[in-house]
Order: sequence, then C-alpha cells, then structure tokens
Amino acid sequence: MIEEMLRRKKLLIAVLIVAAALYFVLGRYDVSATKPHPEIVNMIFHGIAERSIKRNSANLEVPYDVNDKDMYLKGFKEYDHMCVQCHGAPGVEASPTGKGLFPPPPKFPEEKLYEYSLKDIFWVTKNGVQMTGMPAYGPTHEDEAIWAVAIFLDRSRDLTEAEYRNLRDKYSDTHH
Ligand code: HEC
Repeated sequence: MIEEMLRRKKLLIAVLIVAAALYFVLGRYDVSATKPHPEIVNMIFHGIAERSIKRNSANLEVPYDVNDKDMYLKGFKEYDHMCVQCHGAPGVEASPTGKGLFPPPPKFPEEKLYEYSLKDIFWVTKNGVQMTGMPAYGPTHEDEAIWAVAIFLDRSRDLTEAEYRNLRDKYSDTHH
C-alpha cells in the first residue's frame, strides 16, 4: 500500500519535470523584453537578486572617506558617463536603450535604490546582475572608480533637478 503510494508520487513528480522541461524546450516561455515576467518569476528573481547582493556585500569594508568631495565629484562624472543612459537622473530621462530593457533599470535616485546601502551599490556596480541589463564594471574599472560612483549615489538620495544640472554645468566632460 505505502509502496504503491510512493511509486505514484515518483511517477507524478517525473511527469511534472518532463512537462516543465517541454514547456521551456518547446519555446513556450516568452523571453520577450516587452512582456513582463509572470509575477512568480519576478518575485523569485528579485528575491534571489536582493538576497545575493546583501549577503555578498555584508563583509565589505568601505576603504574611502564617504565625505570626501573629490570622490563625490569623481563619482558624479563616472555616473553621468556610464550609468545615466539606463538609470536616468533628476531631470534626465534614460536613453531609448535604457527604456527598452526588461526588467527595467530602477530610476535614480527614486525607487529601489533606497533599499540598497553604499556597500550594496558598490557590489552591484562591480559585479552586475545576471540575466538583466545591469553590467558588471569590475572587469573594466578600478575599485576606486566603483567606490566613487557608489559614494555619489549613496549621498545623492535627495538630489534635485537643479543640483544635477549644476553638477553637469560645472563638472561634466560630456554635457554642457
Ligand atoms: C545597460 C543598462 C544599464 C547600465 C548602463 C547600468 N545599469 Fe544598473 N541596472 C540596470 C538594470 C536593468 C537593473 C535592474 C536589475 C534587476 O532588476 O535586478 C539595474 C540595477 C541597478 C542597481 C540596483 C540593483 C537591483 O537589483 O535593482 C544599482 C545599484 C545599479 N543598477 C547601479 C548602476 C551603476 C552605478 C551604473 C553605472 C556604473 C549602472 N547601474 C549602469 C541596467 C543598467
């Protein structure tokens, strides 16, 4: 009796695994970037990303003075050069590339960025987020530049449009 039940259970599990495999193999899962993931995929994916980020960044030490003005300005320049096309800025829209991504890049400085600490931001910028448009800058940039961006973002949570414009007018290499 018990053995019979166990056998049925195994059979049921095997059928489910094959069905799931067929669903993906036959191309039924829609990878289009214009259709939001089903809610469950979203939840699982974001939960995994957030936990991974927080766990990995927990043991980092911040090696720079977060109040250093030069680091802040260096971070602004890096941000305005490398990140603004996807994340936008106060008074600045993301580019068509940034707007076409799914999952969408969180708009800076509002939205999800508030959930992330300075160390989290450093870790994400260095390592990127798999299966999203968020690139890893570690392979191409020194840690110092990445800490600078993280310090800039961490200290810019209340940045206004006028302040961002002012930074661009004074310090941007590319926008005037
Ligand atoms: C090509 C587009 C693109 C560029 C360029 C880009 N990002 Fe992202 N970024 C993304 C996307 C997409 C996500 C959302 C990932 C997700 O949903 O988990 C993201 C998420 C983030 C997050 C939050 C982590 C999360 O899981 O939501 C931070 C912090 C971040 N980016 C910082 C940066 C910084 C700093 C730069 C520049 C050095 C940058 N990004 C450049 C696309 C981009």
